[in-house]
Amino acid sequence: MDPYCSICWDANRVKLLDQRRLPGEEIYLDITDYREVIEAIRTLAIRGAPAIGVAAAMGAALGALALKTDDPAQYQVRFLDICREIAAARPTAVNLFWALDRMQRVAQDHAGEPVAAIKERLVREAQVMLKEDETICRRMAQAGQILIHDGHRVLTHCNTGALATGGYGTALGVLRAAWEAGKRFSVWVDETRPLLQGARLTTWELGKLGIPYTLIPDGAAAALMSMGRVDLAIVGADRIAANGDAANKIGTYGVAVLARHHGIPFYVAAPLSTFDFTIPDGSHIPVEERAGEEITIIRGMEVAPPGAPALNLAFDVTPNDLISGIITEKGVALPPYSSSIKALRRAAE
Ligand code: MRU
Repeated sequence: MDPYCSICWDANRVKLLDQRRLPGEEIYLDITDYREVIEAIRTLAIRGAPAIGVAAAMGAALGALALKTDDPAQYQVRFLDICREIAAARPTAVNLFWALDRMQRVAQDHAGEPVAAIKERLVREAQVMLKEDETICRRMAQAGQILIHDGHRVLTHCNTGALATGGYGTALGVLRAAWEAGKRFSVWVDETRPLLQGARLTTWELGKLGIPYTLIPDGAAAALMSMGRVDLAIVGADRIAANGDAANKIGTYGVAVLARHHGIPFYVAAPLSTFDFTIPDGSHIPVEERAGEEITIIRGMEVAPPGAPALNLAFDVTPNDLISGIITEKGVALPPYSSSIKALRRAAE
């Protein structure tokens, strides 16, 4: 069990750890309205692809509970509208849409039942998705931990721990499982500008797990690799195309290029819910662009002249040929990805 949870369902309320305030304050938001869930996703109070998926499902459940109509047909239409609203919160992490599709399917599959029964089913489904996500992360971690060896110096980018999921984590979950298996290694943590998910969240989680780490500015990865001080890089993903191209936090692509240049393995860890089998390659992944102020203002302090133009792409896409392997709950996919990903998908059906 984690000593904290990113999100949980408690007596028809959503409790989520406000990640904007970490590591300084551990404050749980107590949410009763689905619109507040949208705001929490939009402002990164909850973030990380799998956690966004669970939050979306719980938001949909809150919306479903609040609907006043008893007419089943009208209920379906209004529930769909709520799901559409939630879907607009953030564009890149496919888990958001995956989770909402699943909730809509539950509503539609039971459209003939009384509204009260559908509400109950939707609330249950959101809770099942939370539990499942943790189980999947643990399986993924077991599949990936064999890649980590004693003495490794592992570099990671952004935050992929329990905070970013329903529990345990993706890339950080792999490191956690390796640590729990008795392996001893250390982690280079990219600070992850502009919102500092590495500096604020990954260090916080590694500290709680007792895994030794050193925080570095994003720009230091190249020098460390050239000095022979990085043995492996591992990251999460927000959306993986059918050919293995993987979107993740801005800066990931740079890490992958550097890793290839220095002959260092570069792994991606992500559950199958992060795969978008409908798109052939990464050029179809919508990359979120956020407000420039997230770059020019750090925690309330202006670090650029007022009004300085700034481009804030939240993600980049790493081409599949730079990825050594994709760790999932169904095993590790290896190149060529078009066939190995197909095989994983079949194994999941
Ligand atoms: O903008 P964020 O913080 O939601 O971005 C998160 C990431 O890029 C993570 O690396 C990704 O979601 C994988 S998390 C398990």
